[in-house]
Amino acid sequence: MSKKFNRTLVTCALPYANGPIHIGHLAGAYIPGDIYVRYLRLRGEDVVFVCGSDEHGVPITIKAREQGVTPQDIVDKYHKIMKDAFSGLGINFDIYSRTSSKVHEEHSSAFFRKLYDEGKFITKTSSQYYDVEAKTFLADRYIEGTCPKCGNPHAYGDQCEKCGSTLSPEELIDPHSRLSGGTLEKRDTTHWYLPLDKYEPWLREWILEDHKEWKSNVYGQCKSWLDNGLQPRAVSRDLDWGVPVPVEGAEGKVLYVWFDAPIGYISNTKELLPESWEKWWKGKDTRLVHFIGKDNIVFHCIVFPSMLKAYGDYILPDNVPSNEFLNLEGDKISTSRNWAVWVNEFEEQFPGQEDVLRYVLCANAPETKDNDFTWKDFQQRNNSELVAIFGNFVNRAVVLTQKYFGGVVPQNLKPEPIDSETLAEIVPCKEALEKYIETYHFREALKEAMNIARIGNKYISDAEPWKVAKTDMDRTASILYTCLQICADLAIAFEPFTPFSAEKLRKILRVAIDAGQDHRSGEGAPTENFFKPGEGKAVHTRPFGKMLVVPGIPLLTWNMLGASEILAPGHKLGESELLFQKMEDSVVDAQIARLEAIKKANEAAAKAKEAEEAAKKVEPQKEEVTFDDFGRMDIRTATVLEAERVPKTDKLLKLRIDTGIDERTIVSGIAEFYTPEQMVGKQIVILANLAPRTIRGIESRGMILMARQGDGKMRIVTPEEALHNGATVG
Ligand code: MF3
Ligand code: ZN
Repeated sequence: MSKKFNRTLVTCALPYANGPIHIGHLAGAYIPGDIYVRYLRLRGEDVVFVCGSDEHGVPITIKAREQGVTPQDIVDKYHKIMKDAFSGLGINFDIYSRTSSKVHEEHSSAFFRKLYDEGKFITKTSSQYYDVEAKTFLADRYIEGTCPKCGNPHAYGDQCEKCGSTLSPEELIDPHSRLSGGTLEKRDTTHWYLPLDKYEPWLREWILEDHKEWKSNVYGQCKSWLDNGLQPRAVSRDLDWGVPVPVEGAEGKVLYVWFDAPIGYISNTKELLPESWEKWWKGKDTRLVHFIGKDNIVFHCIVFPSMLKAYGDYILPDNVPSNEFLNLEGDKISTSRNWAVWVNEFEEQFPGQEDVLRYVLCANAPETKDNDFTWKDFQQRNNSELVAIFGNFVNRAVVLTQKYFGGVVPQNLKPEPIDSETLAEIVPCKEALEKYIETYHFREALKEAMNIARIGNKYISDAEPWKVAKTDMDRTASILYTCLQICADLAIAFEPFTPFSAEKLRKILRVAIDAGQDHRSGEGAPTENFFKPGEGKAVHTRPFGKMLVVPGIPLLTWNMLGASEILAPGHKLGESELLFQKMEDSVVDAQIARLEAIKKANEAAAKAKEAEEAAKKVEPQKEEVTFDDFGRMDIRTATVLEAERVPKTDKLLKLRIDTGIDERTIVSGIAEFYTPEQMVGKQIVILANLAPRTIRGIESRGMILMARQGDGKMRIVTPEEALHNGATVG
């Protein structure tokens, strides 16, 4: 790492606490962030890894309202689910806090107040939609109306989810409140704005000149924002959920969620390290890295840096690695459509296979373009990469060592050039792996780690120690000695990517690793993550510089990767066990079936919704008629005496009716909606003086009045209480 920096502060986007974490989140920000942090710690760097729940914002208040609970209930529920999901996957933030914390309320409030006092904001009064019934201004999301682009009647004031257009409430046709359903009124409201336009020249230089090394998707988005010209951005909202604006007369106003949430990175660091947080955020020798998904780029590269710049003494991000989106089985991941693999559910259904998910999401990460997660690919990568290459190699090496050498690393009794040549191949893998991680190319980095396993697997297959053992035990010793060195390499190289399996492998090899120190216990007591012989726990972290070295347990370090000897002859291995399990078709087929069922249910729901919309559709009013025009219609009550289907038609009934004036026959197209039996005895209303028409050879005299709704459904019109036949209607 560059000498410029003495420590690294890594953040992952604070996820909204309005739904569980899914694989798209993981692939976008959290797995890459965790790999990076683990790697830096292995290299001995001082790292703080910060995350937490983003607990403000309108979607949370909407969800609460829908479920009839408080926003606090919603965030409590999801905060816990998300926190557990992360730790279940070995994503061990030093702190996973929440933006509803006291520290955050104080810190974000003070942050705002300083900018306010120093005149860094401008205020603007604009007229915005006010819900008269609910007595509140409405956030854009709370306004519903018809999309001007596609006609979807349920578009929101910020976006139409049907056609994807970005909208403003003003563009909606017939806007109304989602809150009360009632009508809206425009009223004046005043908000604080950060004048981003003022920061534009500085941002241009800082990003476009000084950070040309940022990933091209990030750099490109920033450039296009800057080229389009920046506008002042509101930093407050009329809402009752959030951090109150700390200014007199600002009742009913809170900080905009995208103002308070990124400050959460700072608040959470402060909560973890109350004494020393400032060196992490203000020390020029701290390197700040934000891991995010692509929808967060503008906030992390333009808005938050402008806030930090306005404040004055904070450092700015050195890099903002951001991934594209991950799709699921060819479709966009969607919380509302339940189209996702939820991490908490995965952990329940695939216990002990967390690394498989970590591996697949990294191997298939959407680093440069959107990518697809499929269960078949998941199975395939497990079975033909993790099991067949990595697991198979380790298993053969360890089992044969147990068989021929009592589980002790043999002496290198009869080396051949291929042995050292093979080990030498690992050195460039290590170098490439380092280069890739340091430039945020995690897929490529993982390939290099996997290459080490491929090298091992090829070596053992070619050297065939199981055959050599029949004739030459000395040569067998050298082959297995070499294989075990490669196993130790794998126990180092895979630590950032698949930490559970790397730890399992270290247990098999009876070694530990110096994985660096974390800050999970803050500034005080050391973490408990020590190796305790007999408990099968490999040393994971080095709390506060102290390393517990256990006699007989070699301590691996990153720099040993690729060394010619990591495990000395004579070292006793532990028990062998399988690193990975083969995944049967039935397992992934069940997941695919689950998704298919969801897709079907979604389609059915969409159809039902469409049908409902069609049914509600109302035809425009017809041309005006005069009272006299209407008066010429002779409309009367009548009763059906007999009814039968008109042969060879689906729609027509032939009815014999008593009109009070006479008995006559009417042919009516109601057979889809009424059986002849249902019609007999019914009182109906007819247009009696309609000129007779012959339908299917039957003379029809008059017309039955029917009500017909948008989807074609019809019902007869009948007096609210039976009257004598021939009563006039009008
Ligand atoms: N909650 C946002 C999201 O899920 C991310 C917030 S990141 C932070 O898209 F910087 F604001 F914290
Ligand atoms: Zn639309």
